Amino acid sequence: MPNMTFVLFGATGDLAKRKLFPALYNLFLDGKIPDAISIIGLGRTPYLHDDFQSVVKNALQEYSRRPIQTSSVQDFLNHFQYCIFDATSEESYQNLHELIQRREAELDIPENRLFYLSVAPQLVEGIAANLSASGISQTKGWKRLIVEKPFGSDLKSAQHLNKCLSIAFHEDEVYRIDHYLGKPMVQNLESLVFANPALGLLLDHTQIANVQITASETVGVESRAAYYDQAGAIRDMVQNHLLQLVMMTALNLPEKLTPKEIENKKIEVITSLRPIQKETAYQDIVRGQYTAGEVLGTPVVGYTEEPGVDISSMNDTYVAARLYIDNPSWNGIPFYIRTGKRTNEKSTRIVLEFKSKVDDANRLSTEGITPNLLIVEIGPKENISLRVNMKDPSTNRFTPTSINFSTTVEHQPEAYELLLFDAMIGNATFFAHWREVELSWKWIQPIMEAFQENRLPLHSYPAGSIGPDAANQLLQVDQFNWW
Ligand code: BG6
Repeated sequence: MPNMTFVLFGATGDLAKRKLFPALYNLFLDGKIPDAISIIGLGRTPYLHDDFQSVVKNALQEYSRRPIQTSSVQDFLNHFQYCIFDATSEESYQNLHELIQRREAELDIPENRLFYLSVAPQLVEGIAANLSASGISQTKGWKRLIVEKPFGSDLKSAQHLNKCLSIAFHEDEVYRIDHYLGKPMVQNLESLVFANPALGLLLDHTQIANVQITASETVGVESRAAYYDQAGAIRDMVQNHLLQLVMMTALNLPEKLTPKEIENKKIEVITSLRPIQKETAYQDIVRGQYTAGEVLGTPVVGYTEEPGVDISSMNDTYVAARLYIDNPSWNGIPFYIRTGKRTNEKSTRIVLEFKSKVDDANRLSTEGITPNLLIVEIGPKENISLRVNMKDPSTNRFTPTSINFSTTVEHQPEAYELLLFDAMIGNATFFAHWREVELSWKWIQPIMEAFQENRLPLHSYPAGSIGPDAANQLLQVDQFNWW
């Protein structure tokens, strides 16, 4: 791995503490960061380098998946320097440039620069422009920009943001994080069929009845009302994570492809998504908002009673949708997706339901038969299983039994470890490319407008439940139910 400078904008923020420092540390433990790396944290808090190193160490103590190794942690911390930074001040960029160059000279690092923007969305555009204007991004080596979501708040703003980034960075240099693409089970989807031809046979599309993707959470809006009350589940989860999961599920690749080919395949999938019109969105989309209830035994308030949320807010905390991918592979097979806050469980999973052969209701000994399911559990548990029916000879009844294809791997790397490593080696396979992002916004746009114009009901669901009943009806009209 080439030696490099890693500049972290937003180094005093929550993401840095919870995810980025621990990810870098675990990569360090695995020998997966360059020998010479200059990590420069930027923030408004006036820290000295040592103070900042203590902040990093505290974050590791609290959040690292593996405990700190006292013998070597200081070697890790020595890579970190801090620079007080105001993203709107020219002087800040000059100071940063000087620090980058000084460290490059001290450590004999070529001008390979990775910029990570973990900042408020409204700052992204200005930072990209200033990196270019100040000369920081004009390097003799490579340069890369990692951007966190949200990438825009609608189609127009995303296009505008992309245009601004492209002034300073080429598309190949922009790494848009969608942390769901860093989850090990999601990364598995790309090679699942190619590595398991038997599974490929099983996934014969003519045998699949429907595909269901669930990303449910028990947490509520937490302390993010200012952002979430504007975004809603549609922007926060559907536009990015869920549509990425749809693309990754629909890939079904029989061979190993290059990152570029995978990107093209994903674009093919999202291009084939049947558009939803705002006038008829109510037929395929369900939106909901949680009311007071009880989650895992604890009473919780309803969404509009949450701190910072407008009492009359019509924001969606739950979305379910029926999608069709109009390409030869998935023609006519419905994809159902759903996501909600304050539901009864934290679970992200993909379920493929197979067609049922039991059509003769009068035949004996079919009692208890349920559809075969291939279940890919993405988190918090990671597992792939097949649900089959086994007959109990004594009762002649069938009961569902699960065959597990995978064993729980202890100490799986976290999404951010995989993603940071890929960005450092220049592999963009598991990042969201611009066309995917743009086409996702394009598909979502009429739905957001339908929400805005109140063209479909806002269903309420008690916190701690599985979501609004209307989401069940969405499947029931097609003779299915959620798994
Ligand atoms: C984030 C959303 O992108 O994903 C959050 O902004 C959500 O609202 C989170 O809670 C869910 O991620 P995970 O990895 O816990 O499923």
